[in-house]
Amino acid sequence: MPQRTFSIIKPDAVRNGSAGAILAQVAGAGFRIVAIKKQSISKHEAEGFYAVHRERPFFDSLTTFMSSGPLILMVLEKENAIADLRKLMGATNPANAEEGTVRKKFASSIQENAIHGSDAEDTAAFEIAYWFAGYELI
Ligand code: CMP
Repeated sequence: MPQRTFSIIKPDAVRNGSAGAILAQVAGAGFRIVAIKKQSISKHEAEGFYAVHRERPFFDSLTTFMSSGPLILMVLEKENAIADLRKLMGATNPANAEEGTVRKKFASSIQENAIHGSDAEDTAAFEIAYWFAGYELI
């Protein structure tokens, strides 16, 4: 059964022109794009999205970064989508990411790390519903 996950091409990647290459890598790996939209988000919206990290020392800087410019919100579908996207993304810190992964190729730091992907089924469900209405998921 296909599984859905949620992903963001982050403001650093949109700003430096790598969004198209990242999208091509994701689509080339067999993910179906269920929904996609480019938009800017407010600091408040970023804080709600990353609420699980609100006690972390990087919370303020992360939410400022995520609201610093346009990003691309996506819902992706394939068999084993959640784990496969995390593999394609590489480690959170690009310094530790495997060769060929999105973060190895396109990320510049642990914070400005080009792409986000849900880490589990429950977070994927929360994150999809946070950014997309049911009628947008086709
Ligand atoms: P993401 O997968 O979107 O989930 C949480 C984000 O917080 C992560 O990617 C990074 O952008 C950021 N992050 C995680 N750890 C750190 C850290 N130690 N310092 C700064 N930002 C971090």
